[in-house]
Amino acid sequence: MKIIMDTTEKKLIVEDGDRTDKCNLYSKKAFELVSDQWLKMGWNEKYLYTFTWMGRPVIQLPDDLLRIQEVIVSVKPDVIIETGVAHGGSLIFYASLCKVMEKGRVIGIDIEIRPHNRKAIEAHPLKRYITLIEGSSTDTTIVNRVKKMILPHETVFVILDSCHTKSHVLDELRSYCDLITPGSYIVATDGSMKDLYDVPRGKPEWKWDNPTAAALEFSKSHNEFILEQPAWQFNESELEQNITHWPLAYLRRL
Ligand SMILES: C[S@@+](CC[C@H](N)C(=O)[O-])C[C@H]1O[C@@H](n2cnc3c(N)ncnc32)[C@H](O)[C@@H]1O
Repeated sequence: MKIIMDTTEKKLIVEDGDRTDKCNLYSKKAFELVSDQWLKMGWNEKYLYTFTWMGRPVIQLPDDLLRIQEVIVSVKPDVIIETGVAHGGSLIFYASLCKVMEKGRVIGIDIEIRPHNRKAIEAHPLKRYITLIEGSSTDTTIVNRVKKMILPHETVFVILDSCHTKSHVLDELRSYCDLITPGSYIVATDGSMKDLYDVPRGKPEWKWDNPTAAALEFSKSHNEFILEQPAWQFNESELEQNITHWPLAYLRRL
């Protein structure tokens, strides 16, 4: 596909095989087309590796953090479980929401919590909201340990951000789905891998081996979950699609 941005004529020209489409540069369609490319370019440039939340690196697109904040604030979970801790920035982000909501705690699971990351998370002012668990998120011992930490009446919200292969995410979805309370979510992040397979830092197999493929397969056999983008809570635009690295990520329990 070839996209030509004509800033003089204020047009976007899209050539795809024999087909040529032209739209106004300042239109919803052009914004969506350019955003799709911008996401791929930004990912390749490691734009996501440039942010911190309250002092800890957080490897996320700010749009995704703001959108998940909207969802978490509307669900107000008692427990937020995140697989994939890395530097701890996302755990601190969720913990800061718990503090402001005056509700909730966070459980972070990672196969390897590096000593300097553990030390920084444990020294953070929001540490009292956080429990760290080291081990594979799909290891039965770890899954059972997490399940024992949840009380029967508690509302649970899960974010999957560990290993992003289809099989691992599918295992995670199956391991943690029982914990999700009606109205809450399990979120399979980083499905944009399906679109990143052809960028220089991507891998060809990501076209099929990605979290979106796992979420789609899971949703087919779990009618109690619906796979859809949560509605925006404020929108004075004509836009309606998230600008996201988490397409088809949000599975809401009915
Ligand atoms: C993308 S990073 C997490 C980023 C973090 N959530 C953030 O937003 O800053 C992925 C993490 O998953 C962890 N990981 C990889 N395989 C895992 C597994 N099987 N179980 C748990 N964690 C795993 C890695 O050690 C790494 O720290």
